[in-house]
Amino acid sequence: MPTSYEGVGILILKTMQTVYLNGQLLPANEAKVSVFDRGFLFGDSVYEVIPFYQGVGFRLKEHLERLNHSLRAIRIKSDTNWEKVLTQLVEANGGGNLSVYLQVTRGDAGKRSHAYADTMEPTVFACCSEIKDIWQAGAEDIKPIKAVVSEDLRWHRCDIKSTCLLPNILVLQQAKDQGADEALFSRDERLTEGSACNLFLVKRGVLFTPKRSSEILGGITRQLILELADEHGIQYQEMDIDYERLLMADEVWVCSSTRGIIPVTEVDGNRIGDGLKGPLWIKMFELFTVYQRELMAGEHNKLS
Ligand code: PDD
Repeated sequence: MPTSYEGVGILILKTMQTVYLNGQLLPANEAKVSVFDRGFLFGDSVYEVIPFYQGVGFRLKEHLERLNHSLRAIRIKSDTNWEKVLTQLVEANGGGNLSVYLQVTRGDAGKRSHAYADTMEPTVFACCSEIKDIWQAGAEDIKPIKAVVSEDLRWHRCDIKSTCLLPNILVLQQAKDQGADEALFSRDERLTEGSACNLFLVKRGVLFTPKRSSEILGGITRQLILELADEHGIQYQEMDIDYERLLMADEVWVCSSTRGIIPVTEVDGNRIGDGLKGPLWIKMFELFTVYQRELMAGEHNKLS
């Protein structure tokens, strides 16, 4: 029998996950969505992924702002009280360290038709999966990864967190086939981001990242890295990064809510810097760890 609260949470998830669907919390195997749902037929939907550590949402306000941005951009209206729904969902799944996935589709049209009526009722779904609290780990526990560069074949609204992820899935699979862990997108000779992460590089102690535009997702982790850099006097620049600059970097990192900040020590078979985790990565990882401890103590992350 599990003795800790966290253990109980994990047991509940493994046996009977509770999900949220259209106003109800229910066991995953009882949650049903129509075959005419536009999310299923067209990928007509947006999503978010939000880590919760011991019941505390990581930058929840920022994630919900981005969700609202995505919803507005594709003209879906939802009056869901997200804070309430997500808190109940996390509690129903035992608290602990969970990644919450939420998805809002344009809804069930009752038939397949490209055009839609503005009056449609959206489908709102959320579920959890277990995650490690990466910030409780030491920098020495984080394993560097290898990446490959692939052509960015996505549309020009990558700022919308759309569920149309076919290009992202295909490049990641190609990367895995080549023995790498992540794919970096390149569009018009400029690196944009990874298949599910943002991109940073370090040259002579300065941090560089592609500037925010409709060609990349405005990552919550990316934003926090820039805020921490500001606060701690780390110089940074948001600018175009080409392939040569990437290979000549002293350090390359990728970042996301679920994986944190990960050092990339090889790109297309070329060693980055000295092939080890870089000093600025170690510093940023530590700053994140401190931020995370403060978050758990009730600082940051206020919704108001
Ligand atoms: N994806 N860019 C892309 C294309 C992403 O899919 C993600 C995250 C990010 C990083 O954003 P953030 O720091 O807000 O997590 C950048 C999530 C984790 C996913 O699709 O599962």
